[in-house]
Amino acid sequence: MIELDRGSRVFTLHTRNTTYQMKADNYNVLLHTYYGPRIGSDDLSYLIQYADRGFSPNPSQAGEDRTYSLDTLPQEYSTCGVGDFRLSSIEFERPDGSLAADLRYAGHERRPGKYALEGLPAFWGGDEWETLVVFLEDAAAQVSVELYYGVLENYDLITRCVRVVNRGTQAVKLRRCASLCLDFQGEDFDFITFDGCHTLERGLNRTHLRPGVQSVESVRGMSSHHHNPFVMLCHRDAGEDHSLCYGAALVYSGNFLAAAERTQLEHNRLTLGINPWHFCWTLEPGASFTAPEAALMCSPNGFGQMSRQLHRAVRENLIHDPLQGQQPPVLVNHWEATEAHFTQEKLLGIARAAAPLGIELFVVDDGWFGKRDDDTSGLGDWFVNERKLPGGLNALASRLKELGMSLGIWIEPEMVNEDSELYRAHPDWALGIPGRPRTRSRSQLVLDFSREEIRNHVYHAIKAVLDSADISYVKWDMNRSLTDVYSAALPAGRQGEVFHRYVLGVYDILERMRQDYPHMLIEGCAGGGGRFDLGMLYYTPQIWCSDNTDAIDRLGIQYGTSFCYPVSSMGAHVSAVPNAQTGRATPLETRGVVAMSGTFGYEMDLSAATQAEKRLIQEQTAFFKEHYELIQRGDYYRLTDLSGPFTAWEQVSPDRREALVSLVYGPNRAASPFRALRLKGLDPKALYQVNGRETRRGDVLMAAGWPLPMPTGDYQSLQLYLQAV
Ligand code: GLA
Repeated sequence: MIELDRGSRVFTLHTRNTTYQMKADNYNVLLHTYYGPRIGSDDLSYLIQYADRGFSPNPSQAGEDRTYSLDTLPQEYSTCGVGDFRLSSIEFERPDGSLAADLRYAGHERRPGKYALEGLPAFWGGDEWETLVVFLEDAAAQVSVELYYGVLENYDLITRCVRVVNRGTQAVKLRRCASLCLDFQGEDFDFITFDGCHTLERGLNRTHLRPGVQSVESVRGMSSHHHNPFVMLCHRDAGEDHSLCYGAALVYSGNFLAAAERTQLEHNRLTLGINPWHFCWTLEPGASFTAPEAALMCSPNGFGQMSRQLHRAVRENLIHDPLQGQQPPVLVNHWEATEAHFTQEKLLGIARAAAPLGIELFVVDDGWFGKRDDDTSGLGDWFVNERKLPGGLNALASRLKELGMSLGIWIEPEMVNEDSELYRAHPDWALGIPGRPRTRSRSQLVLDFSREEIRNHVYHAIKAVLDSADISYVKWDMNRSLTDVYSAALPAGRQGEVFHRYVLGVYDILERMRQDYPHMLIEGCAGGGGRFDLGMLYYTPQIWCSDNTDAIDRLGIQYGTSFCYPVSSMGAHVSAVPNAQTGRATPLETRGVVAMSGTFGYEMDLSAATQAEKRLIQEQTAFFKEHYELIQRGDYYRLTDLSGPFTAWEQVSPDRREALVSLVYGPNRAASPFRALRLKGLDPKALYQVNGRETRRGDVLMAAGWPLPMPTGDYQSLQLYLQAV
């Protein structure tokens, strides 16, 4: 609900559990007055204190009043060069070379429903949303800034985005344009980020916000394995189920900057948006720039509630479900079994073994196209390698159909190998700086997706493949960071636009693919989880979480991922042991339990599986299908963090009649102590039957717990299925 008080010019956004407020003051500066647990619509500017602070300057309108400074007041969208020395949200260069920005309130509008962004992914929906637009103006620069707020009341979600318009007669260069600025007065916060590297993505890091700026960013042209564009601020005592925390996620897949500052007054500011590094966007007179959307969430009751609300909002108001609620097929992918060395017979051998086990989709990964036998050649040549797949994908699809399976394929549209027909025909299509040799990574170069003709060429080739057979799934991969970022199609003064134009180009093709194949499931991937963000999830309902399929490492990766992203979005497969990345052998049961709290599938040579393994796989796929709704759409509770002797989590159905508890032990030790696991989210009064046997009341299971059997080996696991009787 949006409440506007025209007299006091206070704008209050209410969600079910939270309230957000801003106010235009006497000098038309838009102050941020509150974000926290839900309260009334009182004007909270009474909390702001005014005092003369040394070296904090005063705007001319304040006259002799030295207590009024942009440097100390909580700002809704911070400016620069005219008194606020903290993190700025916006910077632009005027024709005279000046860099200051001074924004003043100029009006507002309340609109029903949700605003949409052209060419950019954003949360969507109908009447469940309300929109507030606040108009700001820099009169001297003739630049206006529109702040958009989308309010999704039931899920405590506030989305924000920013549009900058050049209303002058000369070009303006936009150098920084954050999507979100959030000021807090007098809080003592921890800053939580999700960091890692290829094969070990999104590890949670929590640090006390100390004086100065702490930040995470990507400059790789993708959101990256290294830092995720989702960050949190929380009270120092905050945990899974208590105390105040805030989450902020950027709906964007390119370079980003998330910066948190603790100021001289021990205030805090968070900004999140496109990374200003190598960013400069020319706004001709009348032109506008729209920053990507940011999603904001506040939970008065700890991280768990925040994640559950985010999961719901992402599942129901961001992701487009091509299957419209139907269960996606359980898949098998041959990559870890064969890499690019395969024949049609080899693939069909795996498929023949998979079909009777309840596996319904066969994904042909890298290696089916061009001259692609390893990762040094073939990218860009999107036509079938008939030597490996005689009769093409259509012949394979027909053979799979006989087995009752559908076909999916891997593609990597943004890339090209120098050893490819595409590169030989168009060597100038790869990103490259004139006069410099190009930098290779995985022996590949990056196509300039900021250029429409290049995108069109690639998309037409891929479309011909998609039209050549019945293909129900595509894995869209992206296997390197961007370097030599320079576009031959843009003049010297506009090279600062290439990183962002590249991302817009990727979104353009994803959107076309989504429109052309509305029922095809697209899985995102970037060397595993290098582009796991809300921008990609808008187009690709699931993303391959990591190239690391080791069940124990995956516990950490999926734990960190779960803070923002729902189980249904996490690509997870059971693979062979010893694991290709870690050399570790974990039981098949455990690998199943871990992959099941993701999209679930297999990535191993099932034709080599033993009878006992096949029986277990059959049980796993049957169990997953039976409990699909609960696992994928249930409320997700983290029962432990990663520090203890086991890791546990739980999904609870929205009506609390069912729950699934999953637990994985670490390495075993002698004389393990007796332990009990406390459950969460149950109906305290309901009687639950556990694994079809013993019954216990919900309050007992939550307060006293369930006794854990002692493991008899390393990395064992356990699942408890609870049903209210
Ligand atoms: C990336 C993906 C893998 C696989 C390979 C193929 O690393 O993350 O799953 O598809 O590429 O080259």
